[in-house]
Amino acid sequence: MNNYLSYEELTKDIMANRKFQKIALESHHGITRMEHSQRVARNVYKVCIKLGLDYVSATRAALVHDFFTNEEFICFKFLGCGVIHPEIALANANQEFELNEIQKNMIESHMFPLNTTLPRYKESWVLTGVDKAVALYEYMANKFSYKRVTKKFGYACSLFAIMVYYLLTKEIR
Ligand SMILES: [Fe+2]
Ligand SMILES: [Fe+2]
Repeated sequence: MNNYLSYEELTKDIMANRKFQKIALESHHGITRMEHSQRVARNVYKVCIKLGLDYVSATRAALVHDFFTNEEFICFKFLGCGVIHPEIALANANQEFELNEIQKNMIESHMFPLNTTLPRYKESWVLTGVDKAVALYEYMANKFSYKRVTKKFGYACSLFAIMVYYLLTKEIR
């Protein structure tokens, strides 16, 4: 992976952002939203490099895909979690960082099929697949302890989800 930017390099400005750092205090799947976001972003980074996709855009968008605080979310909660939080995350990410069209679509559609925005890029399919696999891993790890549900299980789920999405969507772009 020598010719690629490192994960740390391409995410350091996001990690240093004051508003973004607030998600380290928010709970999410029994851990913090920061831990979840980093796990998703690291997997998206690896998968996108493997598939030859735009790993820079994808990794940065993956890191901010759940960029919201519970405080911002509370006024919307009756409208449905899956539908509303990608929009809040997109608004926050757009305010703090420069986003391209791939990144906007990735954030907006990551809860597909719960929300109505379709993933229009392969990078969007990668994020929605990895996010689901990681959420399943975190849910199970939280329920049965991280010792029994190893990281390998999470990565295996991610790769499986990506393979399925990739086969289904290889004509997209
Ligand atoms: Fe989300
Ligand atoms: Fe997520």
